[in-house]
Amino acid sequence: MIKVNFSNSKIEKEIKEFDKEKIKKVDEMIRNKTGQGSDFLGWLDWPVNYDENEYNKMKEVAKKLRQEIEVLLVIGIGGSYLGARAADEMIRGLYPNDKVELIYIGNTMSSTYIDQVVNYVKDKEFGIVNVSKSGTTTEPGISFRVFEKLLVETKSKEIAKKRIVAVTDKAKGALKELATAEGYETFTIPDDIGGRFSVFTPVGVFPLLVAGIDTDALFAGSKQAYEDLKDINNQAYQYAVARYILNTKKGFKAETLVSYELQMQMFSEWWKQLFGESEGKDGKGLFPTSCVFSTDLHSLGQFIQEGTKNILFETIIDVKHPTKDINVPENKENLDGLNYLTKNSFHKINQTALQGVIDAHANDGQVPNIVLEFETMDAKMFGYAIYWFMLAVAMSGYLLGINPFNQPGVEIYKNNMFKLLKKPGY
Ligand code: PA5
Repeated sequence: MIKVNFSNSKIEKEIKEFDKEKIKKVDEMIRNKTGQGSDFLGWLDWPVNYDENEYNKMKEVAKKLRQEIEVLLVIGIGGSYLGARAADEMIRGLYPNDKVELIYIGNTMSSTYIDQVVNYVKDKEFGIVNVSKSGTTTEPGISFRVFEKLLVETKSKEIAKKRIVAVTDKAKGALKELATAEGYETFTIPDDIGGRFSVFTPVGVFPLLVAGIDTDALFAGSKQAYEDLKDINNQAYQYAVARYILNTKKGFKAETLVSYELQMQMFSEWWKQLFGESEGKDGKGLFPTSCVFSTDLHSLGQFIQEGTKNILFETIIDVKHPTKDINVPENKENLDGLNYLTKNSFHKINQTALQGVIDAHANDGQVPNIVLEFETMDAKMFGYAIYWFMLAVAMSGYLLGINPFNQPGVEIYKNNMFKLLKKPGY
């Protein structure tokens, strides 16, 4: 479901000649769980090992909730929300024609934003899924207080009890204790799966079920990737190798993930977290950034074409089959001179732009381009792509010699903030 094209990467030869033994060794570290952080490799077999009972329970609870609400507030930050949002937007699009809207909170402490959401939902039928593995993260914690209170005040304690779901650790953390005390339905985040690897657990699956997304197809996609990528010559590993060569042998410092579909923007945000948090440590790693073309061709495109060289390369997601295609309408007067385009669909024009841009950036601009062909933007494709990138980052992180599964740097700001806020114990 993903086809990689390295013909404009400028390192095709180096990728082919890369030490196969090294790939084999790292693959063994991943599969045999012998590398750093290996107690966080629970996602590796999850497509065939997931808890079916819990999945069926989630389906039941989500079905009931879906009947009752218009808005689901998804509370979480980083890995506890980006996957669900990436899936929601990629699969349903930006203006879904569905009964239930997902709104994301807990990822900001902006009082202005939170107040806007309060005003938006206060007269609506809403529910809450509160996602936090540690159960102690400040941003989602204080946001939950606001909306739990709002639900109790605008409805009742009884209704709040039916409409609030917690996704957290099976035993520990403040959220687990709170959910148990209040009698909220709770689903579990497995111990051995970290936030940015948790899309296929209740973290991603529960909100997506409430949104009416076909999560069976999502699992089918992840399972297909799990099978397809067993061979060590797989393309996810080749992509990891290409990034490694561009970074450590050619000196590139950043990678921008480009897509030509606005509804892939949050997918890129998820990808940025996956690669940024997994690799950015010990003074190493590529800085992950993203662009959406055409819009960014009219801003960052200038920099990519003619700005500082040898810092940035592009990885382009080329979606072959759009969810919907439309034609450029005929106009008798042709005052804008655009009738020459009426034989093309928008998608065909978009694809032509993609070809022209690759030529401009890779050949004139000398910017390496890697192309990832995605078949579609549906649930199966999403599941496939998520697993594909998770396996790629495991290979990529271990090639760099770092632990891809921790995020020690994230704690530093938290400690500073807690000291300043006079949190007990800091
Ligand atoms: O990938 C990660 O581990 C992080 O982004 C976490 O998901 C994020 O910090 C939220 O943590 P928690 O789920 O404990 O609230």
